[in-house]
Amino acid sequence: MDKLVIRGGNKLYGSVTIGGAKNAVVALLPATLLARDVVVLENVPAIRDVKIMLGIMSQLGAQVKRLDKTSFRIDTTHVTVQEVPNDVAKRLRASYYLIGAMVGTFGKADVSLPGGCDFGVRPINLHLKGFKSLGVNVDIDNGMVRADAKEGMTGSSIYMDEVSVGATINVMLAAVKAKGLTIIENAAREPHIVDLANFLNRMGANVRGAGTDVIKIRGVEELHGCTYSVIPDQIEAGTYMVAAAAAGGDVTIKNVTPKHLESITAKLLECGVEIEEGDDEVRVRRFGELKPCNVKTKPHPGFPTDMQPQMVTLLALAKGTSIVHESVWESRFRYVDQLIRLGAKINVGGGKTAVIQGVDGFKGACVNATDLRAGAAMIIAGLVAEGETEIEDIYHIERGYEDVVEKFRAIGADIQRRYYPDEDDLELRA
Ligand code: EPZ
Repeated sequence: MDKLVIRGGNKLYGSVTIGGAKNAVVALLPATLLARDVVVLENVPAIRDVKIMLGIMSQLGAQVKRLDKTSFRIDTTHVTVQEVPNDVAKRLRASYYLIGAMVGTFGKADVSLPGGCDFGVRPINLHLKGFKSLGVNVDIDNGMVRADAKEGMTGSSIYMDEVSVGATINVMLAAVKAKGLTIIENAAREPHIVDLANFLNRMGANVRGAGTDVIKIRGVEELHGCTYSVIPDQIEAGTYMVAAAAAGGDVTIKNVTPKHLESITAKLLECGVEIEEGDDEVRVRRFGELKPCNVKTKPHPGFPTDMQPQMVTLLALAKGTSIVHESVWESRFRYVDQLIRLGAKINVGGGKTAVIQGVDGFKGACVNATDLRAGAAMIIAGLVAEGETEIEDIYHIERGYEDVVEKFRAIGADIQRRYYPDEDDLELRA
């Protein structure tokens, strides 16, 4: 098994370039089905979730060709509608976007329920509500989502009881070819929603209002291929900003959209971090003490839940008490036990609020990455901890962070990937 091994104490200096957004590209890839044509996607991040989704697209009959390190040519002309079984769908949360894309393309989909990080219950009732509003017969049977729009789809108004990124995206994918007007109210406003709308419109769709809480989609007969570049990853950028704030030093994070980072920048400024914004980069400096602050995660443009573990790790090192409330997910503090192993003083009452007493520093230990962003938080903690920190289950991290060892080493972190033969290997040897 591979682990990340970090020797803490180095300040970070230099620059790091951000890749394409994971939560955008995992929607854009299934969306290429709607074109039934050739699509070229650029600025695609080299992450495990992309590899998995490209593999699923190939299994469905898409011709996938890598053009260079970050560009792919995807020809979906000959894709046929077919089942996406559990052993494929369970490998990533975003597999459920294949439902919307296949319903939009073929009027039919049979996709197993998705996998994804464990934050407690992750229902898909709003996805199903949206499909039903469009006239799709959809139900869950033996863990499979079976959707059928024999009579075609008709646009309608859909109110999202919760702000849901996934449900907003799935309804957009189905509605682009529904007859007439679809209105999604209380829609998610994340940057990746806007990116999907721009991509769909580039393919000939008619989507208006993405980025606001009302998205209007007028159905079209046909979509076509295009070339499109994925937006930079807001959460990867935020993670390196928080890492620089935690370790101290002076780091420039390149290929970002500063507007997407506003809530993260605001909180870091509150913590006494210096931030300088350029057109497509942010410079983060921290030499003085970290100040405590309170954070409440919210749908965009609020503070992103996907930055919560990283921010809690930073606040665990601030002088004073901070309170972080997780309002999006039922239980997204499982990683706190791992921070406590490093010396953090955090109390999670009732599962949704963490009360953090800042400490002077962490001491290195063995920790687990309990999910993707928690794994990023362990790296940040390891950068600061005295001595060596070993992080297990790093496959979580590689789902969403491209070249994470190389990028951190390039700004001065003492981090390496080390292979540890685990019991299976040893048994083999015996
Ligand atoms: C997406 O998950 C992201 N994943 C998550 O990022 C992110 O945490 C989340 O959006 C919120 O921003 C991808 O984009 C692949 P939701 P998603 O539907 O779509 C409730 C990461 O680290 N809800 O916006 O599954 C739900 O329980 C990952 O990159 C319903 O009640 O999240 C939650 O409380 C982790 N019914 C809230 O809405 C539904 O039908 C937000 O969930 C759907 C959701």
